[in-house]
Order: sequence, then structure tokens, then C-alpha cells
Amino acid sequence: MPRFLKIHMWPIWLIALGTQAKSFKGNPIIGSRTLNTLGLHIVRLLLARATAHFRWALLAHKMPRELRTEFHENGFCILPDFLDAETLRQIKDEIQTYAGDARQMTQGNTATQRILLDDTALAGRATLSDFQDNSKFLNFLAYCGASAIRPMLYIQRIRNGFREGKTDPQKTMHADTFHPTIKAWLFLEDVHMEDGPFTYVRGSNRLTWRRLKWEYARSRVAASIGDGYSEKGSFRADANDLAAMGLPAPEGLTAKAGTLVIANTNGFHGRGQAEDGANRLEVWAYSRHNPFSMVPGFGLKARMRLEHKILHRFWRHKDKLAESKNSRASWHLIDAREMLD
Ligand SMILES: [Fe+2]
Repeated sequence: MPRFLKIHMWPIWLIALGTQAKSFKGNPIIGSRTLNTLGLHIVRLLLARATAHFRWALLAHKMPRELRTEFHENGFCILPDFLDAETLRQIKDEIQTYAGDARQMTQGNTATQRILLDDTALAGRATLSDFQDNSKFLNFLAYCGASAIRPMLYIQRIRNGFREGKTDPQKTMHADTFHPTIKAWLFLEDVHMEDGPFTYVRGSNRLTWRRLKWEYARSRVAASIGDGYSEKGSFRADANDLAAMGLPAPEGLTAKAGTLVIANTNGFHGRGQAEDGANRLEVWAYSRHNPFSMVPGFGLKARMRLEHKILHRFWRHKDKLAESKNSRASWHLIDAREMLD
């Protein structure tokens, strides 16, 4: 049966237009060539951008002006020495004693390994607990993410050349979604060029006329692009695309341990090319607000705890589903030692 005949799904697809939903393939309204020719994608993108500017204005007091300017000019902020050497050492020592759940996902030849920093993971780890409550850290993330809601925090290790496989799709420059959203990295070890540093196309966060034209053209065909990600709403941009938008070449952001990087992942970014076996260890933060909400929300711990619970439930549900199919979930459990060794 053609999808548009699934009448019961129409309300869900319609409501999704007012949310973070971004899949051109999964939602026939978002993916409609006719509607996107009429400007649906561009209208969502412009509304989300205007709303983000409103929330940025409300949260401007949380970050000094020069850092805000840097963030909006470049699409990222780099804060060297955000943590001193002693605090870093203590955090790394605390992580080494962790023996609870860790999860791993492989994409191409690269593995991403994560420990969710929930109450269980933080119990008995005073320095890490202090860090996740560090008001400067939370304020900067709140401003950049245009959201006062506490971000999800993880310890993350990226292992390059983890297995035989195709190229890691995260190494292709891409925008995560159609609206401003952030990811942040507090590097626990030095990141050199050969370690595959976070890579960003400077200034690609700005909504220029050329970017809008590119988004418009992409949106008309996105549902059938078929690279595995663009059709799900995370547009890939190659060197020709970047040139067409008047953007510079991607830059690898090498960093000393203790550096905090906050990036608007609506700009083009990816993981840098790395030597096989190279890896990096970091505290990783993720924040994605409803793109059309005028309200930045509140930094309630109760909400964060609820999100942790939902995430654990979701993971367990995926584990069970995978088990019933004799396979393993894309974010499957691993022994924490595999991540920390
Ligand atoms: Fe990304």
C-alpha cells in the first residue's frame, strides 16, 4: 500500500513538523518533493533559526560577549585549559575504577564507546560529579545550545580502525540536522592530527543565501539520496558542495587535554581522518532542543534523571529485540574495561 494511503499516520506525520523530526525518508510530508519545492524545508529551517535566535537572546547572560561572538562567527568555541591538570588526573583516575555498563556502536571501521554519566556512574566519583555540576560548563553549554535543559553527558572513546570495514560515515562532512544544536567535547587526553580530531568547516553555521539555496536544492531530492544519512535529514556536503556555498576547507581542531570545544552541529563537521588504532577519550555532551520552542526550559536535575531512565529503558528494549533476532543492538553492551584499557 502506498504510504500516503496510511490515513492513521497522517496526524503523526503532521504533528512531527513542529518537532525535531528530520527524516525525509521516514516522514512523507517532510520528504515530499512537491512540498519542499513549495518551500516546506526552508520554512522549517528559517522558523527554527529565528526561534534559536530568540532563545540565544534570552540566555545571553550565561556566556561572555567575546565567546558568544566567537561561537556565532566560527560555529564553535575553543576553551583551552578549561580543566586544570590536577582535576583532569582525578577525573581520569575516577573513570578507571568504573566497572558498570558501557555501550558501543560501530560505524564503518570506527567504534564509538560510551558510559552514560548518570547517578550510578557518578556515585563515589566526586571530581566527575563536581564537573557535571560546574556552573560555568553548564552555562556555556546552555547558551550555545540555546537551551537551559541539562545536556546528556557521557564518557566517550572513539577508536579508529577498530575493525575491517568501510570508511566511518562520520568522517564525511555533514550537518546533524536542520536547526542549531550543539555537541561539546572536554578532551581528557591531547588530540593530535593523527588521532582524528573533531573537524569543522569554519563559518558553516551561518545561514547564508548560498547555504539556503543549497538546502533548498537538497530538500527537493533528499528522500531519495540514498547515502544512508542525507535521506534521514543529516545532509552530507562534499568539497564541491562546500565550494558552492563559498565555504573553506574543513579544519581539524587539535587540542590539549583539558580543552573544552562547543560546536553548533548545524554547521558542517565530522571526525578527522585518523591512523588505525588511534583513539581519543573525552567527556561528550549532547543537547538538542525543540527547534520551534520559544522557551529555553529549565536545568532541572529531575528531568535529566527521567531522560536517563528513558534512555536505559530504550537500550534494554533494543537489546531484547536484537536478542530475539539473534543479533545485537547497534548500541550494544560491552565490558567497561574494553573502553578504558
Ligand atoms: Fe555529526
